Amino acid sequence: MMPQQRRDRICEVCAAHHVLIAEDNPYGLLGFEGQTARAVGADDENVVYLGSASKMFTPGLRVGWTVAPDSLATILGLQSEAAALNPSVFAQEVVAGCLEKYDWRSVRDEYRVLYGKWAQALMDAFDEHMPDGVTWTRPEGGFYSWITLPQDVDSYDLCMKGIDKGVEIFTTTLKKAMNA
Ligand SMILES: Cc1ncc(COP(=O)(O)O)c(C=O)c1O
Repeated sequence: MMPQQRRDRICEVCAAHHVLIAEDNPYGLLGFEGQTARAVGADDENVVYLGSASKMFTPGLRVGWTVAPDSLATILGLQSEAAALNPSVFAQEVVAGCLEKYDWRSVRDEYRVLYGKWAQALMDAFDEHMPDGVTWTRPEGGFYSWITLPQDVDSYDLCMKGIDKGVEIFTTTLKKAMNA
């Protein structure tokens, strides 16, 4: 859901510094109001686009796809083989069958509404329970809200407390804390 202007700027900066962009986009079709963000990879060749069947069919199949510059095709294929030898043929057949036999666009529309309801429930809970000093993004699509904690809250400690309560929290500072 990132605004186009910001997408353009990211492409400019990455091109200037010869940085390849990985566009990890399993939620791109899931705009709550029916909107689909245009893929960065559609306008820029400096992108490895990653799609997944996880969000449109079901998680756990581990079937996805890549659109990448030709020069990377061989190395990506080798990397994939090194990681999994061969992705599950059964899972790929399930996804192929769904694409062929079901109206995936109407499924997408149902999921947009469903994800929107979940996001609203999350926002309502944040509004009710979050302490002062915490801010968060209100998603227009997809699966994530980014939370900003006050400077004096250690997100690593928070992660550990979350695990004790059965809640998983991703934090941008976790790796730093674990390496320390
Ligand atoms: C941003 C993001 N990328 C990739 C994935 C993984 O998708 P897959 O199930 O195809 O491995 C997820 C899963 O939740 C995700 O949130």
